[in-house]
Amino acid sequence: MNRVLIENSGHTFDVRPSQTVLEAAIEAGINLPYGCRNGACGACKGKVLTGKVMHDDYQGNALTDAELAAGMALFCCARPLEDLVIECRQIDMVQGIKPRILPVRIQHKQQFGDDVMVLHLQLPATEQLTFMAGQYIEFLLKDCRRRAFSIANAPHEKGFIELHIRKIAGGYFTEQVFNDMPLKTILRMEAPLGSFFLREQNQKPIIMVAGGTGFAPVKGMIEHMIFNQIQRPVYLYRGARRTGDLYMDDLCQRWTQFMPNIQYIPVISDGHDDDGWQGRRGLVHQAVLEDHADLSGFEVYACGAPGMVDIAKETFVKQGLPEEEFYSDAFTFAPK
Ligand SMILES: Cc1cc2nc3c(=O)[nH]c(=O)nc-3n(C[C@H](O)[C@H](O)[C@H](O)COP(=O)(O)OP(=O)(O)OC[C@H]3O[C@@H](n4cnc5c(N)ncnc54)[C@H](O)[C@@H]3O)c2cc1C
Ligand code: FES
Repeated sequence: MNRVLIENSGHTFDVRPSQTVLEAAIEAGINLPYGCRNGACGACKGKVLTGKVMHDDYQGNALTDAELAAGMALFCCARPLEDLVIECRQIDMVQGIKPRILPVRIQHKQQFGDDVMVLHLQLPATEQLTFMAGQYIEFLLKDCRRRAFSIANAPHEKGFIELHIRKIAGGYFTEQVFNDMPLKTILRMEAPLGSFFLREQNQKPIIMVAGGTGFAPVKGMIEHMIFNQIQRPVYLYRGARRTGDLYMDDLCQRWTQFMPNIQYIPVISDGHDDDGWQGRRGLVHQAVLEDHADLSGFEVYACGAPGMVDIAKETFVKQGLPEEEFYSDAFTFAPK
């Protein structure tokens, strides 16, 4: 057993030999930031001030060799070799919300276009799930496989979980969801997970950037804001390849009709001049940069493909956004 001290907060916790730093912190009720939990997104990066860690496999773009040499670590895949003193951000708002493993039953399935399936999962009648709008769940599948999906409804809607699942060609889980998973199928999930959720104590205007099914957690956050009458200005940018990929577009349009603080800007990247689209074209992060020459006064929530999230962060920070005001979940693939 090794002990970890978080220098900036003074918290300590023990790590068993089988655990990563992040697993032990979550078990101890200490919330470090994280996304994918498999070394792909970089959200859990922090500094090891004293002591040594050994990393499981991770992706080079999540932690570069230069960062590793400078003492940085990915806490989701770092195992302590001795006692550690570390430096990392902590998230107080999820204090007391610990992930649990629960059975769920598929209650409702609706396909949008070729490759998006909306699922409603029913929780056991005796159970309620406490979560923050924007967090995610992981399905626990055969052979220890896990698959992550963001929660698309708001916490006030009790008793069910909504997911938006994009079909991955050859994907182990998503192909089953589309072809071979009838209503009433029982699955096991761990939830709630992640640190991508609405920071309610902040008063800044919000820019939301959602690519594809990255719309799921953003929908949960906006429905939470509407329910709780949070009136901060929201600029919702949705990126899609073609107009047919903008599933639930009518819902976004409706929000703008009764919530004057919400502006909706759909952006199409792969359309044709004759496709009838009257709105914005191009890359979704580019539309944000064109509309907001100075991003210093905003808070940004970005979710979708890792490439989109990375380029949004890089370019928004160059255009004035404070780095700590960029929150994201990158939809990385599960490890092979
Ligand atoms: C925090 C988080 C939240 C997420 N939320 C959502 C969500 O709300 N909705 C959603 O649709 N997805 C979401 N994802 C992504 C989703 O978890 C993955 O797409 C998942 O791997 C799909 O499972 P699968 O079994 O169908 O495919 P897998 O079996 O995982 O994928 C098939 C295999 O092919 C490879 N592969 C397939 N296509 C590609 C490609 N285009 N490029 C590179 N490699 C490829 C993968 O590496 C993998 O080995 C989320 C991911 C994370 C980390
Ligand atoms: S790299 Fe650690 S949570 Fe994604």
